[in-house]
Amino acid sequence: MNILVTGGNGQLGCSIKKISTQYPAHKFLFTDVPEVDITDLNLLRDLVRKESIGAIINCAAFTAVDKAEDCQELAAKINIDGPKNLAIAAHEVGAKLVHISTDYVFGGKSSLPLKESDETAPIGVYGKTKRAGEIEVEKTGCDAIVIRTAWLYSEYGNNFVKTMLRLGHERESLNVVYDQIGTPTYATDLAYAIMTLLEKGFKGFDTYHFSNEGVISWYDFTKAIFEIAGYKTTVGAIESYEYPTKAERPAYSVLNKKKIKTAGVKVPYWRDSLKECMSILLAEK
Ligand SMILES: NC(=O)c1ccc[n+]([C@@H]2O[C@H](COP(=O)([O-])OP(=O)(O)OC[C@H]3O[C@@H](n4cnc5c(N)ncnc54)[C@H](OP(=O)(O)O)[C@@H]3O)[C@@H](O)[C@H]2O)c1
Repeated sequence: MNILVTGGNGQLGCSIKKISTQYPAHKFLFTDVPEVDITDLNLLRDLVRKESIGAIINCAAFTAVDKAEDCQELAAKINIDGPKNLAIAAHEVGAKLVHISTDYVFGGKSSLPLKESDETAPIGVYGKTKRAGEIEVEKTGCDAIVIRTAWLYSEYGNNFVKTMLRLGHERESLNVVYDQIGTPTYATDLAYAIMTLLEKGFKGFDTYHFSNEGVISWYDFTKAIFEIAGYKTTVGAIESYEYPTKAERPAYSVLNKKKIKTAGVKVPYWRDSLKECMSILLAEK
């Protein structure tokens, strides 16, 4: 199958590129804004025909959560029109679409792990545009799956693990919020999950949740990062109001992974995956 990966230079795109050599039966075409802007429907239409694309994995998104509050139009163009265009182009040639979404489609008020069928209630521009993008994909009638993930990190780009490794190296102490609860996701694990679902095949529209296994706060995550790195940096536990951000964060973002596990996807424990990613990051230092 010829697989088009959009947003290929981002964290998830690079992680798919890393594992793509393990799937020699498929030909991957990795693209990012300069080659394929997902807001350009005509370009997508031409490309999927010319390259005989059988599946699209959309890793492209406007992911800057705080910046989205000031750039509503651009966030909407990329997070709503983008996946809609991809779904239209895919539908026209009978290709499948895997679209990546987020825990931010929920409002964070739950106290139980969130199921795919739970009501969405996004609280900021990023979450609202990502939810609207999911709806647009479904409306096209394309064979598509939406995978909602959370707290994504990897050895690529900017993410929480890399920021904490830098800060832990520079500072003797720092404060991190302990009242936002969720589960980290190693992008390599998500990349394998995507490939498992794609190879299994699907018809119609469906939604899945994927993160790593377990439940922690950002404070616990930081403590684990420093422990694995061997840093002695002191970590203080603070509340969200003591670290104000432009966009409100969901307080509770734990995703229920039962459905994706039943579909045959492996969900590694967050700490095992963190160790795997950090062994790569620390070796690069
Ligand atoms: N990061 C997280 O914690 C997190 C959590 C939950 C869900 N997600 C979702 O997971 C997916 C992957 O996230 P990620 O962290 O890998 O994102 P990322 O690192 O920000 O990568 C996104 C990529 O998309 C590109 N892009 C932006 N606009 C585009 C356009 N119009 N056409 C084509 N490409 C475009 C970006 O290019 P530029 O850099 O040049 O803009 C970037 O290379 C996204 O759907 C995101 O919403 C992420």
